Amino acid sequence: MASLFEPFTLKDVTLRNRIAVSPMCQYSAHDGVINDWHRVHLGALARGGAGLLVVEATGVSPEGRITPGCLGLWNDEQAHALAPSVQVIKNAGAVPGIQIGHAGRKASANRPWEGDDHIAADDPRGWETIAPSAIAYGGGLSKVPHEMTKADIDRVKQAFVDSAKRALASGFQWLELHFAHGYLAQSFLSKHSNHRTDEYGGSFENRSRFILETLRAVRAVWPENFPLAARLGVIEFDGNDEATLSEAIELVRQMKANGLDFIDVSMGFSLGKANIPWGPAFLGPIAARVRREAGLPASTSWYISTPQQADGLVRDGSVDLVMLARPLLNDPHWPYKAAKELGVENPAWVLPAPYAHWLDRYRAA
Ligand SMILES: Cc1cc2nc3c(=O)[nH]c(=O)nc-3n(C[C@H](O)[C@H](O)[C@H](O)COP(=O)(O)O)c2cc1C
Repeated sequence: MASLFEPFTLKDVTLRNRIAVSPMCQYSAHDGVINDWHRVHLGALARGGAGLLVVEATGVSPEGRITPGCLGLWNDEQAHALAPSVQVIKNAGAVPGIQIGHAGRKASANRPWEGDDHIAADDPRGWETIAPSAIAYGGGLSKVPHEMTKADIDRVKQAFVDSAKRALASGFQWLELHFAHGYLAQSFLSKHSNHRTDEYGGSFENRSRFILETLRAVRAVWPENFPLAARLGVIEFDGNDEATLSEAIELVRQMKANGLDFIDVSMGFSLGKANIPWGPAFLGPIAARVRREAGLPASTSWYISTPQQADGLVRDGSVDLVMLARPLLNDPHWPYKAAKELGVENPAWVLPAPYAHWLDRYRAA
């Protein structure tokens, strides 16, 4: 079996190791355009030594942003502004990826540190939200979304396609579709949020339709030689877990048949009152099952914090990549320190030469 610091090849893309920067919203953009904050943030993470860096959830349309500060790819200005950062990521030796998504009924929210709730109805920064059904998420996200018409569904699918084309034009080589976390695509899949009676609701086949149609449409424009990934919430921790997981695994099989190359296993977050068994690497066994039963390369995240946990998940074949978020915010040089701890030869050389050269000597002294 592979280890954390062995390369990973998928299609024409080779990652230098199995560490991926999980997408992390910065809520710091204006009109969806990347700025100096993101440039420094992404540069530091790329320099830190990960094999793959997936840029934050990026809205395929203005109303698809989680907050007014989220990145977007609904116009060419946004794509052009991303291109230099993509180059920085490549120059640092990481593969540049981006997650595109639509936040559905969880959109139009305040930044996490400003409440994480829906923007008040009388605040001009907010907007009308859309979802498969007119059902609010609840709690602080209590805004009732507008039930999507077929025209809305077609428009959002097209927005995914157009954003994928712009991601390619910006230079990204790995595309992740955000089909998780209670956002739009996940809310089509979940019975908690989808009460439709047309061909997009009801049966498993109908609840999967939006995801599969969007995937097929994106695959048609995303090059065959670059990986197309999706982050899917495969479990809700709502007491109905075996049924949800079995459905999700069947869906991943169908996604694979429709051109998906990689699955990033996460949670549904379709309801506020889930009973989530938080703990070290707790999604590892679930990701392993999805990987095994769907037969697709996989990753997962959530509370994988030590090099030993990350290496163990790769070595025992649970996942192909580990997605890290908060450990890398805490320390962008986590990969270097992990390489040292795991006894990798010349660990400093996971960093670019202007750092590695000195740290290598420092270590030897
Ligand atoms: C600041 C921050 C922003 C995040 N933004 C996103 C996002 O844009 N898309 C997404 O799918 N998950 C997002 N997440 C979830 C992470 O990608 C990751 O799955 C989660 O934090 C668990 O990994 P960790 O325990 O290593 O932090 C975010 C997490 C953090 C901490």
